Amino acid sequence: MAAVSVFGLGKLGSPLAAVLAASGHTVFGYDASASVRSKLRSGEAPVHEPGLQELISGNLERLFVVDTVGDAVSSSAVSFIVVPTPSGEDGGFICDYVLDACGAIGSALAFTDRPHLVVICSTVMPEAMGRQIAPALSKAAGVEIGGRLKVCYNPEFIALGSVIHDMRNPDMVLIGESDRDAGSMLVDVLSPCWENSPQIHRMSFANAELTKVAVNAFVTMKISFANVLGELCEGLPNGNVEAVSNAIGADSRIGKKYLKSGLGYGGPCFPRDNRAFERISKTITGKPTLASRVDEINERQPERYTQAVLKQTKKGDTVAVLGASYKPGTRVMEASQALSVAKSLQEYGRNAILFDEQIGDCPGGDLPAEYGELRFDGDLAAVVEKADAILLTLADSDLAAQCERLVSRKKASVLVFDIWRIMPNLAEMNHVTYHGSGLGPVSVGE
Ligand SMILES: NC(=O)c1ccc[n+]([C@@H]2O[C@H](COP(=O)([O-])OP(=O)(O)OC[C@H]3O[C@@H](n4cnc5c(N)ncnc54)[C@H](O)[C@@H]3O)[C@@H](O)[C@H]2O)c1
Repeated sequence: MAAVSVFGLGKLGSPLAAVLAASGHTVFGYDASASVRSKLRSGEAPVHEPGLQELISGNLERLFVVDTVGDAVSSSAVSFIVVPTPSGEDGGFICDYVLDACGAIGSALAFTDRPHLVVICSTVMPEAMGRQIAPALSKAAGVEIGGRLKVCYNPEFIALGSVIHDMRNPDMVLIGESDRDAGSMLVDVLSPCWENSPQIHRMSFANAELTKVAVNAFVTMKISFANVLGELCEGLPNGNVEAVSNAIGADSRIGKKYLKSGLGYGGPCFPRDNRAFERISKTITGKPTLASRVDEINERQPERYTQAVLKQTKKGDTVAVLGASYKPGTRVMEASQALSVAKSLQEYGRNAILFDEQIGDCPGGDLPAEYGELRFDGDLAAVVEKADAILLTLADSDLAAQCERLVSRKKASVLVFDIWRIMPNLAEMNHVTYHGSGLGPVSVGE
């Protein structure tokens, strides 16, 4: 087992540190934020992520927090960098935080002769590793890359809400390597973390950088394609997007995963990676790709649902929006289309109330500033009772079951907009006017 350090202990870095420690490695965590460091030092998970607190609490004897980059580097043989790479105006990722971390790690390495592997987990643009990051590290350390200083690019393909499971059960491990030894060292460190036998794809930095963004651009393409199918089915007699997408997904060239019509994609990765893919194409070929259309289709989904609700309700009606996060199992609301729908409904004079079990009454700093006026209520029964209309935005079967139960007991009539078609029982109830998305008008004989 190795001594490793993790730089950046946020949504991805703190689960990575915990998973490495749980696999037997000794982990030294460093974050630029003193409050993040002090939380983790006291054994508290710095972010909300299922299973993270338990993993931290169970592995405190191998999980240390240090206050300087030098302490982390001098105690370890491998450094993982998991710091933010915000999107720039043009859709590309800005790697200033990565360069800062590399500068500090490189400077600390300048004082030692020991070999060290630096692993960049943050998402970066093609050629950033080769042209900026590796040279910055080499310059600060005062040694060439490839000798005692080795570098890998190892982006994660996790989903918030299942980060720990996803890290331990990756479909594919992607490694961009400065040389064969660098990639082999990384595999040795990561393999005790895996509960499965993932495919390992090792390649040059630039190929790995393109692959990372391309995976997400492909997934977003499937999501937008499914949403187009939903729009088409709504205009066809007896249209049924489940029937159509299930049949399409049965073709092994396509597959069912992410081919489900519903709300558009959001969160901290999909929208940014899709735009970055477009940026890469503009830079290399000067031409647009289908990623720009994928983005356009995604952007029109909130309006589609807003209009559906507006058509059936009047000013002053209370609309319960069930789900505020961008996906089930997380309280992250970055680029969540549910917020966008709730805000539009509010602007059109509806009384929108958001319910999200993970968030409760008080979203605090997790709520993006532009949605600061939205109202949250943590009592699902009370929200359903008050509602003239209910819009289920989360593809969450537990929430759907609770909603079905509460609506069935409701005395007053209610409109239900079932974006993921997971509450079909409500269509049978007399006091419910049910609208499943992606379903066309009922027509006899067509
Ligand atoms: N969150 C995801 O779902 C996800 C998935 C795949 C890839 N990524 C990528 O991983 C990277 C990190 O994302 P995140 O969601 O964990 O970000 P985050 O904002 O949740 O956490 C980043 C942490 O890094 C710290 N930090 C900033 N500069 C630092 C420095 N120089 N040294 C040490 N710590 C520093 C911050 O204080 C923060 O705690 C990004 O490049 C992101 O694109 C994220």
